Amino acid sequence: MAEFQRTYIMLKPDAVRNGHIGEIINRFERAGLKFERIELANVTPEQAAANYKEHEGKPFYAGLISYITSGPVVKCVVAGPDAVANARRLMGPTNPLNAGPGTIRGDFGLVMDENVIHGSDSPASAEREIGIFFG
Ligand code: RTP
Ligand code: MG
Repeated sequence: MAEFQRTYIMLKPDAVRNGHIGEIINRFERAGLKFERIELANVTPEQAAANYKEHEGKPFYAGLISYITSGPVVKCVVAGPDAVANARRLMGPTNPLNAGPGTIRGDFGLVMDENVIHGSDSPASAEREIGIFFG
């Protein structure tokens, strides 16, 4: 049985910079997921550090923080049946190199360091991340 869930979705700075907000949002709506909250904003250094705590100390951490704070993002709460897994299915794998055509990362991204979109990896992460970005 599908479970009703909420997930935190964030269109990353490259998606906004390249003018893909509408096309990406459309894919979630087309699949039947609902936008409960949506807001253009800059990620603060504090929010970036809290969101990527699990990656602290890794070689790509500094680049990740500087990228996610490099320009406006679109912060979203998306809801629906199995929203966490369904959103990640629409997004495709973390590395756009492995993301097939038809996925958001496959269609709008080229490199791991600028991979277009973030989506929570579990309902517990979603709750934590919605708290970080919407207070
Ligand atoms: P996200 O959190 O952004 O939705 O991506 P994800 O779950 O698919 O991937 P995650 O493991 O949480 O990694 C977070 C972000 O860090 C960058 N990354 N770079 N160079 C690397 O080995 C590496 N690994 C991760 C990616 O930009 C990824 O989105
Ligand atoms: Mg992640």
